Amino acid sequence: MSLSPLLLLFLSFLSLISCEPVQDKFALLDFLAQAPHSRDLNWDPATPVCNQWTGVTCSDDESRIVAVRLPALGFNGQIPPNTLSRLTALQILSLRANGFTGAFPPDFANLTNLVGLHLQLNSLSGPLPSNFSAWKNLTVLDLSFNNFTGEIPVSISNLTQLVALNLSNNSLSGEIPDLQLPNLQFLNLSNNELNGTVPKSLSRFPKSDFADNNLTPDSLLPPTMPP
Ligand SMILES: *[C@@H]1O[C@H](CO)[C@@H](O)[C@H](O)[C@H]1NC(C)=O
Ligand SMILES: *[C@@H]1O[C@H](CO)[C@@H](O)[C@H](O)[C@H]1NC(C)=O
Ligand SMILES: *[C@@H]1O[C@H](CO)[C@@H](O)[C@H](O)[C@H]1NC(C)=O
Ligand SMILES: *[C@@H]1O[C@H](CO)[C@@H](O)[C@H](O)[C@H]1NC(C)=O
Ligand SMILES: *[C@@H]1O[C@H](CO)[C@@H](O)[C@H](O)[C@H]1NC(C)=O
Ligand SMILES: *[C@@H]1O[C@H](CO)[C@@H](O)[C@H](O)[C@H]1NC(C)=O
Ligand SMILES: *[C@@H]1O[C@H](CO)[C@@H](O)[C@H](O)[C@H]1NC(C)=O
Ligand SMILES: *[C@@H]1O[C@H](CO)[C@@H](O)[C@H](O)[C@H]1NC(C)=O
Ligand SMILES: *[C@@H]1O[C@H](CO)[C@@H](O)[C@H](O)[C@H]1NC(C)=O
Repeated sequence: MSLSPLLLLFLSFLSLISCEPVQDKFALLDFLAQAPHSRDLNWDPATPVCNQWTGVTCSDDESRIVAVRLPALGFNGQIPPNTLSRLTALQILSLRANGFTGAFPPDFANLTNLVGLHLQLNSLSGPLPSNFSAWKNLTVLDLSFNNFTGEIPVSISNLTQLVALNLSNNSLSGEIPDLQLPNLQFLNLSNNELNGTVPKSLSRFPKSDFADNNLTPDSLLPPTMPP
């Protein structure tokens, strides 16, 4: 489904007189048209996106959309490609507690300004993105309570601003990579199928952050030499 040319023309005209981020608005309308949902949203094409649309926040000058928060609106199916990823000024994206399925959207790599990405409590599956390097400004990444599989990508180490990382309650396997994340304060890798041992770089975090995995208990490790 796509917007009709007439509607596009009408919206473009509106944007001329109202100076709103019309391309971003089209991206949201395309998203809504392609993503089945059970709760109504007040995203009326004829109303200004910046101050009236539920869950949408614009930049101060109203030139771009910078935050989209759509928690628990009964969305399901795949996250439609080439819709949200066109909101390239986005800093906060929350789709938490919906029923989204399918893979982690590869086109989210275009959202290079993301500071917070909240996809927890959905049914997303398949591997995590192998290359996290696109999201240099990411401080909060919550992918918990999904069905992600495969290993934790070592490229998460490139997220130098990361403060909170929650990958709990997925089906991630393999060993936990040596993640160099100096700013990390909150970690939760519990409820996965991770094995091996907790790497030194993450040993400052409490044991509960790694609970319910297949990790080798400390008692089975060879004793370390006293300094
Ligand atoms: C990212 O955006 C560029 C244009 O800015 C586009 O050519 C490319 O296909 C997009 N990437 C993805 C993965 O959608
Ligand atoms: C990241 O944050 C810095 C500082 O706030 C900003 O200048 C930059 O444009 C942001 N985006 C990217 C992709 O680095
Ligand atoms: C996760 O996947 C398993 C099988 O692969 C399926 O039985 C289960 O319902 C899925 N859970 C969620 C929350 O999607
Ligand atoms: C990861 O992506 C960044 C840009 O987003 C690119 O510069 C880098 O080469 C990629 N790294 C790998 C290992 O693919
Ligand atoms: C993990 O998530 C699934 C579905 O989201 C849920 O059914 C299950 O109870 C959760 N497991 C734990 C240990 O919380
Ligand atoms: C980390 O980022 C650098 C620079 O963008 C890139 O060359 C490198 O491949 C990234 N590392 C990983 C593990 O993706
Ligand atoms: C994931 O962890 C973060 C940081 O500890 C926390 O704020 C968030 O509530 C957690 N997410 C869920 C679904 O519990
Ligand atoms: C980590 O996530 C699990 C759900 O998988 C939750 O039960 C637990 O309370 C979380 N731990 C912390 C420290 O938030
Ligand atoms: C962890 O599991 C992987 C398979 O997922 C296996 O190849 C690897 O040998 C295991 N490592 C340890 C230390 O058990």
